[in-house]
This record gives sequence, C-alpha cells and structure tokens, in this order.
Amino acid sequence: MARRPLVAGNWKMHGLQSASGEFDKIVAGARSLPGVELMVCPPATLIAGFAAAARGSSVLIGAQDCHALASGAYTGDISAEMLKDAGAAAVIVGHSERRHYHGETDATVRAKALAAKRAGLLAIVCVGETRAERDTGRAAAVVRAALDGSVPDDLVDFVVAYEPVWAIGTGLTPTPADVGDMHRVIREWLGSRPGKAGERTRILYGGSVTTANAKELLAVDNVDGALVGGASLKAQDFLAIARAYR
Ligand code: 13P
Repeated sequence: MARRPLVAGNWKMHGLQSASGEFDKIVAGARSLPGVELMVCPPATLIAGFAAAARGSSVLIGAQDCHALASGAYTGDISAEMLKDAGAAAVIVGHSERRHYHGETDATVRAKALAAKRAGLLAIVCVGETRAERDTGRAAAVVRAALDGSVPDDLVDFVVAYEPVWAIGTGLTPTPADVGDMHRVIREWLGSRPGKAGERTRILYGGSVTTANAKELLAVDNVDGALVGGASLKAQDFLAIARAYR
C-alpha cells in the first residue's frame, strides 16, 4: 500500500505573530509539492492564525501537545477539542521534550492520544531511545515498550514518529541502516495491531533532519516522512526537505 509521505515541522517554542510571513511561504511552496503532505505544528498561539492562512491550501496545522480531558479546571492547559476548534488537524503527543521536562509517562501519552481521537485530531505519537539505551543494545525494546504503553489499542488513525532522543537538536543522526532497522521494528509492531495499521500507518523519522541529510534519510525503507524541528523554522529549508521526496 502506498503511503503518502508526511513532512511535519515542529516549531517547538519558537514563533511570534510576525512569523506568519514564513508560514505564508510554506503555503505558497506547498503548491509545487502535490505528492507530499505538509504540516506545520506552531506554538498554540499561532494555530488559529495559521489555520486561517492555510485555508484553501493543502497545508495542515498540528498542535504540539494537548490535555487528556476535554475541559476542566486545569489552568494553562489546552484540550484537543480546543485545538480542533482553533483549526488544528493533528496533535503531537509524547514528544521526548514533554516526556523529559513535564514528566509525561506512556500512560499520560496514551490518554492524550485518546483525547486526540475523541476530538477528531490525528495523533502523532513520538517514541525514541536515549543514547545510553542505544549503547546498551536496548533501543528496539525501549521503542516497542513505548509503543505498547503509548498507543491505545483502539486508535486507528495515527502516525508514529521515531525520534531518537540523542539525535534531537544535536546535529547527530543514526545511520540510514539504523533508521531502517528501527522503522522495520516499528512496522512489525504495527503489523501486530488489528485492521490495516501495519500497512497504512505512517512512520516518520525525526532528529536533526536537515536539507543536507533529508534525501538520504527519507529514502530509507519504511520512512514515510519526517518530523523536523529546527530546520522547519525557515520555509526555504522546510520545503527543500519536503522536496527530497520528488
Ligand atoms: P530537530 O530537528 O531540531 O533535531 O528536532 C527534532 C524534533 O524534536 C522534532 O519533533
């Protein structure tokens, strides 16, 4: 089954209203990239504005996190329903920065993935090993366990993002062979789920994807796209990474 590549930009905590010009360039560039799904995940403050600017284009807007509940006395939190209402089509859950800085466990991530489903958002579930886990030969087991714990059994439409923690923001990447090995592990894990998850679910690679390495990394078997951090902040670089699929 052919899976349409997805190139998503995770802007993290970057971007003021003045960043809309950069976003407009992405929307314009998307017209010449019909074969690739492009998504930008800006800070929550920019979601509604970007969604309005993207209307009529193929560019999707994603959020970076959500609360598990639809509403309630949770000062500062934002629910999946609110993100949907603001114009988001997807939400990243379980990014390693959320797991690390906010103490999110697999159970938290699972609850957030369920919230995404409830609200009608595509959940992008992130998993990845630390350097120590890779060095001690535990990377595949760690990723499998994170998937077991973070992906609800009845989640049908979702995306897995494999982001080795040690590759995020460091300029380091696994070799294409290592990426291929891990994406095969994830593909096999998906194959054990009900329905057609094994074939249809996209697996993104994330961690120091740049214009220089995109072609090599995105050509690997079972790499159905990228989750791009730093390099997604510049429209020109983000579009060049997406063009790796041409
Ligand atoms: P960098 O591309 O900046 O390494 O970030 C990757 C990432 O965390 C995307 O979610």
